[in-house]
Amino acid sequence: MEHNIKDRLSLLVQQHKELRAISKKIDNTKETASPIKIRELLFTLLNLAKDHMKQEEEILVPLLEGMYHPNEQEIAGFILKEHQQLQSELASLLASVQTPEWDNDTVESLISHQLEHMFKEEYFLFPLIQHFYSGLRSKAQ
Ligand SMILES: [Fe+2]
Ligand SMILES: [Fe+2]
Repeated sequence: MEHNIKDRLSLLVQQHKELRAISKKIDNTKETASPIKIRELLFTLLNLAKDHMKQEEEILVPLLEGMYHPNEQEIAGFILKEHQQLQSELASLLASVQTPEWDNDTVESLISHQLEHMFKEEYFLFPLIQHFYSGLRSKAQ
């Protein structure tokens, strides 16, 4: 069980690396790349992010439920809310390419919002889950 959880969490961390790489690419080229290229990168990011968040919710929500943590529902609700926000920010950014709404500050704020979200997951949420389930295993031994 615990090994399985560790593998699932590291899969999510691996996906974060891909998301960071493409976000960095967008951030570095936002002023020089053609609108077609920017649109392509944002589209890739949006799809990767959607896919990742869906898998993440499928993995994390049952684990959180199994913990009976006093704040379990709040934590799950918080993650789901941030996922919805990030996806809608990304979708509106994608729709704003080559319109007057497009601006570099929005790109930067979206990217930092996303980095912050992944940071919270990797440094607080995943260790909390991992710690809980490894504690269960040592009690069972
Ligand atoms: Fe997430
Ligand atoms: Fe994530």
